Amino acid sequence: MTDHIVVSQAARVMGIQMNRPDKKNALTRGMYVALAEAIEQAENDPTVRVITITGVDDVFTSGNDLKDFLDAQAGGPNNPVMRFLAAIANARKPLIAGVNGLAVGIGVTLLLHCDLVYAAEGAAFQLPFVNLGVVPEAASSLLLPRIMGHHRAAELLFFGSRFDVHAALQFGLINAIHPRDQLDRVVRENAGALAAKPPQALRLTKELLKGGTYRSDVAARLEEERVHFERQLSSPEAREAMSAFLEKRIPDFSRFS
Ligand code: COA
Repeated sequence: MTDHIVVSQAARVMGIQMNRPDKKNALTRGMYVALAEAIEQAENDPTVRVITITGVDDVFTSGNDLKDFLDAQAGGPNNPVMRFLAAIANARKPLIAGVNGLAVGIGVTLLLHCDLVYAAEGAAFQLPFVNLGVVPEAASSLLLPRIMGHHRAAELLFFGSRFDVHAALQFGLINAIHPRDQLDRVVRENAGALAAKPPQALRLTKELLKGGTYRSDVAARLEEERVHFERQLSSPEAREAMSAFLEKRIPDFSRFS
């Protein structure tokens, strides 16, 4: 386990907090394992009805730890990121995210697997996969265009520019915006309200919302993206992008064809 993921349980709600503020909540392999274990535990624990995911200080998460990316071995389908993504994609219990600050990469794409997303005024979002020489993950190449249409998804993914909470609300990525100092209360109260509802009716409603071929489509896209992602991760362009970030310099992609 890691201290960087803090799990708490009260009143039928499991709270999962990402807590690595000195590295802007960059997610390491150990953190993915802890996140996956917490969700798997919540799913198997009949006393848990709702799961919340939150960040710390001014950041939700800056996405995958870029040093981990550079050190990455070929992960394969059972790597910690895929285990975490399978856990949130397959969760039967409602997931609520409280986006307190910046959400980057998987910090945004994990929201596509949450049922309710509340964000703080001032939070921001970024999908910098292309800029890093990799491709989208978490089935976001499927789910983003479904939520916001191809043109918006293409713009966010191609340019990887930051967008604010108002754009996120307009795109359908979040449910509502709250003042920063109210966000924890809003998440807690909504989780409590859901935890008091008839649990089976709630779970069945979530299943119906994700019905038809949704789950199999997501599983297939997760795997398709993983193959491209792992290939790109070891490409010279991704190495250049990630080394440049860690060396605090501007990347140079001019030599690549
Ligand atoms: N992976 C590894 N380390 C990260 C990180 C990440 N994703 N995000 C932040 N850090 C580290 C920084 O290297 C820095 O470490 P240091 O203090 O040892 O130098 C520390 O966290 C603080 O980050 P810093 O960049 O100084 O803070 P900031 O407020 O100026 O900027 C971010 C915050 C999140 C905008 C910026 O750190 C960033 O762009 N991070 C990379 C995001 C990213 O590309 N994620 C991958 C998504 S797939």
